[in-house]
Amino acid sequence: MDSGSQSDRVLRAVLTAVEDLGAEVQVFSGRDLDLPPYHSGASLPAGAHEYVAAVRRADALVISSPGYHGTVSGLVKNALDYLEELRGDQRPYLDGRAVALVAVARGWQASVGTLGTLRQVVHALRGWPTPLGLAINSSTTTFDENGRTDDDPTTAAVAMMARQLVDFAEQWSAPGPRR
Ligand SMILES: Cc1cc2nc3c(=O)[nH]c(=O)nc-3n(C[C@H](O)[C@H](O)[C@H](O)COP(=O)(O)O)c2cc1C
Repeated sequence: MDSGSQSDRVLRAVLTAVEDLGAEVQVFSGRDLDLPPYHSGASLPAGAHEYVAAVRRADALVISSPGYHGTVSGLVKNALDYLEELRGDQRPYLDGRAVALVAVARGWQASVGTLGTLRQVVHALRGWPTPLGLAINSSTTTFDENGRTDDDPTTAAVAMMARQLVDFAEQWSAPGPRR
């Protein structure tokens, strides 16, 4: 939600790289995800419909979180809890979907820890984290408003993770029996 949020800028940089590989993307960030705390049995608030429907349709996801007090921010975790709405689907939760993960914090401890936690959440949701995830330390690596950074290894990592995401989605969505 914060202006100039680095986790939002990195998210958009990854989505741009994914679009460059031919994917169509839809983005939900900041205020789009400012939803009341999820609890089962509640009627879905209006603001959540589009988000839940988009995840239901998606072949792949990119999830980015700031590290807050050492882990995933409450806003992002709450948005992930809304995916409980996909429990009864033919493809429940994130089943069969590649998920690229980004964690951004002011230090390594929180960025690396947050990335690990995001992986655990995606596994619990039956998703497939890409082999490469991004743990970014925003005290040393920053992205500008155009989604660019002068840190070349991070630029290369963004491109590689986008490639892994699209490759997996193409393989998994291909017609024929699942491998
Ligand atoms: C409530 C709060 C808690 C935070 N906790 C941590 C933390 O535990 N460790 C850390 O390295 N950075 C912490 N940060 C800094 C953010 O991780 C940092 O600003 C980072 O760039 C991601 O946030 P952003 O997407 O808003 O830029 C915290 C920031 C806020 C607002």
